[in-house]
Order: sequence, then structure tokens, then C-alpha cells
Amino acid sequence: MEISTSVLSVEEENSPHTFYRLEVAHTDYFHIDVMDGKFVERDTVELMQKYADNLKNITNIPLDVHLMVQDVKKYIDIFSSCNPRNLYFHIEAMKDKKQVLEMIKYIKDLNCKVGLVISPETNASEIYEYLPYIHNVLVMTVVPGKGGQDLIPDTIDKIREIRKYAKENDIDIEIEADGGINISNIKMIKDAGADIAVVGSYIINSKDYKYTISKLKEI
Ligand code: DX5
Ligand code: ZN
Repeated sequence: MEISTSVLSVEEENSPHTFYRLEVAHTDYFHIDVMDGKFVERDTVELMQKYADNLKNITNIPLDVHLMVQDVKKYIDIFSSCNPRNLYFHIEAMKDKKQVLEMIKYIKDLNCKVGLVISPETNASEIYEYLPYIHNVLVMTVVPGKGGQDLIPDTIDKIREIRKYAKENDIDIEIEADGGINISNIKMIKDAGADIAVVGSYIINSKDYKYTISKLKEI
């Protein structure tokens, strides 16, 4: 299982040291949680811009940017400058299919991988038609908007459904799960067909990042 560490709960004052510790602990990716205060209540734009800029200058570990925003295009423009591996936007922020396809193309034209995110209330089938055009799906296993929440068990079924649909339709797609993941539930995520687990507080609140991340990867 690959691990993408969410930096949402990293304390700003010791962030350079925290990022260094995560790098030597071999997180596979850094997950940047951008919230605009409209799509979700919190506004983390300034902090996530600072973190993305810092990370870009101190590590080669790829950055994945999770846009929990209403004005998707505005924040694609802002965060494409940190050369992310992947930009994810929420299907729930789109008004119609035309806009989804426009955003997918817009991100691809920036030479960046594109991922669609589905929140817990959204059915997996909502994104099936887009799977051939995108690189990955980010399945929210908590309600988007904050870290430290408990995983919502029935979101795991959506991972299974998407993996099954992709297999039946011969579509190569990377599936990530995001929110409330820890050592006691990561195996369910993997068995359901996810390739990458986004983990925030379980890693950031642990004493030894190297140990925690290696245990999560072993599953
Ligand atoms: C929630 C974010 C998640 C969250 C993960 O809106 O998208 O990435 O920060 O953090 P934990 O692992 O603490 O749920
Ligand atoms: Zn996230």
C-alpha cells in the first residue's frame, strides 16, 4: 500500500522539521488539503500555499493537491505552480458534465495528472463515465473539511464498486482513500482495491513517523 501523508494537521511553527521527518520516513506522497471556506467551512488556502512552496523547495517527493473548493479553475491556477503530481477536484463542485470535462482537460493541458474526488454522499456511479479520461479517483472516507475524523465504513464499498467497474471495463485507474485511516482499518481499504491511502492525524500525531509509515505500508 502506498502512503500519502496529509499535511492538514501539521503545526505551522515546526512544519520545516515535520516535513523533513516525513521525508526521511519515506512517505510516498505529500497530500495538500486546500479548503476555500465555501465548499467546506475551513479556509486553508494560505497555509497550504505556504506548505506547498516549502515542500517544493525541500523535497522531490511528489505533491498531490486535493481541492475542496467551489471555484476549481481559480485554485488549479494557484496550485499548479507547485508542480503537483496530481490535482484532484470534487465532482460535487461541478454544475454539469461539460464543466467536469473542461476541468479535466484544463488540468491535463498543464501536464498534471487529474483525479476526481467523491464525497461520502456521492454514489460511485456518478464518476464512471469519467474514468477513461482521468488518472485516479479519490474516495473520501470522511466528510471533507477537517482532519482527525473517524472513517465512515460504508464508503469502503465504493472503493470496491469502482475497482470492479474498472476491471469489468478494462480501465486502468488508481484509487485512493482519504480520511480517518489508521493501522486498524487500512487493510479493509487495501482489500477493497485502493492503491494509495491518504493518512493525516494517525501519522502526524505519532511519535515515530518512520515506524508508523512502515507499519502502514506493510499491510
Ligand atoms: C479531509 C482531508 C483529509 C484529511 C485526512 O477533508 O481531505 O485529507 O486531512 O486526515 P485524517 O487522516 O486525520 O483524517
Ligand atoms: Zn484530502
